[in-house]
Amino acid sequence: MAIELKPTSSPLSATERQALLVDPGFGRVFTDHMVTVRWVEGRGWHDGELVPYGPLQLDPATMALHYGQEIFEGLKAYRQPDSSVALFRPEENARRMNRSARRLAMPELPEELFLESVEALTRQDVDWVPAEAGRALYLRPFMIATEVGLGVRPAAAYLYLLIASPAGAYFPRGVKPVSVWLSTEYTRAAPGGTGEAKCAGNYAASLVAQHEAAAHGCDQVVWLDAVEHRWVEEMGGMNLCFVVGSGDSAKIVMPSLTGTLLPGITRDSLITLAGDLGYEVEERRISTDEWREGNASGEISEVFACGTAAVITPVGTVKSAAGEWTVGDGEPGPATIRLRQALLDIQHGVAPDKHGWMRTV
Ligand code: PLP
Ligand code: COI
Repeated sequence: MAIELKPTSSPLSATERQALLVDPGFGRVFTDHMVTVRWVEGRGWHDGELVPYGPLQLDPATMALHYGQEIFEGLKAYRQPDSSVALFRPEENARRMNRSARRLAMPELPEELFLESVEALTRQDVDWVPAEAGRALYLRPFMIATEVGLGVRPAAAYLYLLIASPAGAYFPRGVKPVSVWLSTEYTRAAPGGTGEAKCAGNYAASLVAQHEAAAHGCDQVVWLDAVEHRWVEEMGGMNLCFVVGSGDSAKIVMPSLTGTLLPGITRDSLITLAGDLGYEVEERRISTDEWREGNASGEISEVFACGTAAVITPVGTVKSAAGEWTVGDGEPGPATIRLRQALLDIQHGVAPDKHGWMRTV
């Protein structure tokens, strides 16, 4: 199915666009166009269009508004040294979106259609792709149930949309280490739930704990497992990575994918990159006791958050009901800096893409 292009010229002048690109922040500014594709039971995907960015008109009884059938993705397009633009591992986002779709009883979007949509929008709004290192065009594909009705069942009609937003640092303080709150009162995801799907409900349910983290002076919440409240899972919108040992013996430890956390594409890429850089990598469960005691003994030297929006952001301070500690010396550690640079160099096309992760649009 081809996406029909119905673009209009940008409502903004080049100067106005440049002004917005000076400090885009994260998710505040949107480009000129969006993609929409409809799905109806019995007919499948149809009416793919690239149209001017604008509001949606929805019936108040639209099912997504009542029972939360919404899934989304997040990926970035990076300006390359020759001023072309390339997407980072978009095929992985297409696959994860379909895993989320299956979990939420929504229709799968053919991978080629997903890729066609991200390429068409990136090409159309290419002037919005920032050129500075560490900046990129953030693409947000998502799908909502559009059938009108209040019966609780999988809807028979859906809308897939794609919007784009030029993005700088996700955290307002850039790559400065963030502080995290270990939440024991709330749970993000339980076995058999939707933790490994990227659905709106997971984020809605996390906001009260994010509030709690802020009340303790922290930037983010760290989620623990739902059963024992002692295994570290992930953060609100990013995975976590631990550096155990230091110097030549530093090992990268990623909390294992238990089914209750999101299998991050950045996480997966860093497992490969860490191996390339000579680190031993382990995927295993890591407890809050191990974190606290390992921090005190110096065994856990660095901890960082990783994700498309957050890139790699060091964790500097940890607070919990059981106490507070500083990770390492509270500054970004050497392994964190090395991995961050290695990832950004590939994404911005200044290091060889030996794993074939970049897809030129
Ligand atoms: N965990 C959660 C809850 C997220 O929302 C994200 C962001 O997408 C991640 C982890 C990191 O995933 P990725 O690296 O694919 O962006
Ligand atoms: C991403 O990194 O793409 C995310 O979805 C994280 C957050 C903005 C929800």
